[in-house]
Amino acid sequence: MKPIKVGLLGIGTVGGGTFDVLKRNQEEIRRRAGRGIEIVMVADLNTARATEMTGGQCEVVSDANTVVNHPDIDIVVELIGGYGIAKDLVMKAIANGKHVVTANKALLAIHGTEIFRAAQEKGVMVAFEAAVAGGIPIIKALREGLSANRIQWVAGIINGTTNFILSEMREKGLDFGTVLKEAQALGYAEADPTFDIEGIDAAHKATLMSAIAFGIPVQFDRAYVEGITKLNAVDIRYAEQLGYRIKLLGIARRTDAGIELRVHPTLIPAKRLIANVEGAMNAVLVQGDAVGATLYYGKGAGAEPTASAVIADLVDIARLATADPNHRVPYLAFQPDAMADIPVLPMAEITSSYYLRIRVADQLGVLADITRILADASISIDAMLQKEPGEGESDTDVILLTHRCQEKQVDAAIARIEAMTTVSGKINRIRMESLA
Ligand code: NDP
Ligand code: HSE
Repeated sequence: MKPIKVGLLGIGTVGGGTFDVLKRNQEEIRRRAGRGIEIVMVADLNTARATEMTGGQCEVVSDANTVVNHPDIDIVVELIGGYGIAKDLVMKAIANGKHVVTANKALLAIHGTEIFRAAQEKGVMVAFEAAVAGGIPIIKALREGLSANRIQWVAGIINGTTNFILSEMREKGLDFGTVLKEAQALGYAEADPTFDIEGIDAAHKATLMSAIAFGIPVQFDRAYVEGITKLNAVDIRYAEQLGYRIKLLGIARRTDAGIELRVHPTLIPAKRLIANVEGAMNAVLVQGDAVGATLYYGKGAGAEPTASAVIADLVDIARLATADPNHRVPYLAFQPDAMADIPVLPMAEITSSYYLRIRVADQLGVLADITRILADASISIDAMLQKEPGEGESDTDVILLTHRCQEKQVDAAIARIEAMTTVSGKINRIRMESLA
C-alpha cells in the first residue's frame, strides 16, 4: 500500500518530537500501520529553524494554508496551538477532505462540537489522543477500552506544569515563580502559562474527558475552574500534617442530578497512589461500574511523550482511512445521534468534603461558635487541628475537615463564620476527595 502523506502545522516542541520519533521508529510504525507514514510538508513561521529541524527531508513552507490546501496531503497534524489560526486551518483541512490530528485541547474544548460536526459531514477523522494527558493513552482507554462500562467518575492530575510546581514547592520548599520558570524551560508550560497555573488547561482536558466518559457535548463554559495561584504554602504543610497531599485535580463525576465538571486544588489522602504522582507526571483515575477503578500514569507533556500520542493517532488513521466512516470509532465515544442531554451542575450543587483554615482569636468559646454554625448548616466535622499562636500573636489557625456536603451549605457556613468578630480575614477553603 502507498504511504499515507502527512502535513505538519507547527514544528515547535511537539511538532519537533513528532518529526523525530516518526523518523526514528518509521520501520516499526510501518509494520503496525500496514503502510508508511510520511511527513511530506511542514509549515512553520520560522522556516529557517524548521528546515534545520527537518534536515531538508521534506518541503518547508511559511504559510500553513499551503499544507491544508495541498492535494497530495491525506492527514493534517495541527501543532500550532490556540483557537485563532489553528481553528481556521483545522476547518479548512476538514473542508478539503483531510483527516486531522491535533494536540490542541483548547481548540477542541471550545470549538469541538463545530469541528466534530464538520468532520462527520465530510467523513473524515479528527483524532486528539495527545490533547489529554500527553503520552498517556487515556482517550483510547475511555473511548474504547472501557466501552462496556457506565463510567461513574474520572479524576486526574492532567496538568504537568502545576503538578511540577506543587511537587517542587512541597519537596524542596522552592517558591512558585522559580519553579514556573523551570517548567517553561522544560517545555511543559503552555505558550501562555496562565492557562496552566489558573487551571484552564486542566479544565480543557477535563471537559474533553467528561464528553467521552458520559456522552455529553463538550461544554468548557460550564466547567468550574480554579488554579493554584491562590494556594498558600502553609496549606500544603497543614495538609501533610493531616495525612493529605494537595493536587490540582480535574474531576468529572456523574450524579443523579447531573454532571460535576470541576478543576481545583484538592486534598487527597497521601496513601492513594495518585497522591504520589510527582513532578510533571500525569495520572488519571477512572471509576467504571463493571471494571471498578483503573489508573493511568505517565508523562503528560514534553516533546516525545506527546509525539507518542500524536503518532498513535496517525497509525489509527492509516489503518482506518479506507474504512466506511460509519464503522469508525465515534469522535466522542458515543454515536453522534446518541449524545445525552445531562446538565452540567452549577458549583453550588456539587458535593465534596472540605478543608477549612480559619484565622481565629485564641479565646474561650470561639471554636464552640464555629462548630455550632457548621452544625446549623448540617455540616459534620471529620477532623480538627488547632495550632499554637505564634510568638507574640493573639490569633491562631484552626483547620477543620468536614464530611461530604453540598457546596452551597459550605458557602452559607463560611459567610456566617467570616462575619464573627473573633475571626479575621477570609477562610481558606480547599475541596477534598477520598477517591476511594
Ligand atoms: P510550540 O509553541 O512549541 O510550537 C508551536 C509551533 O507552531 C512553533 O514552532 C510556532 O512557530 C508555530 N506556529 C505558530 N503560528 C504558526 C502559523 N500561523 N503557521 C505555522 N506555524 C506556526 O507549542 P507546543 O509544541 O508546545 O504545543 C503545540 C500544541 O500541542 C498546543 O496545542 C499545545 O497545547 C499542545 N500540547 C503541548 C504539549 C507539550 O508538552 N508542549 C503537550 C500536549 C499538548 P514560532 O515558534 O515561530 O512562533
Ligand atoms: N501545559 C501542559 C501541561 C502541556 O503542563 O500539562 C500538556 O498538555
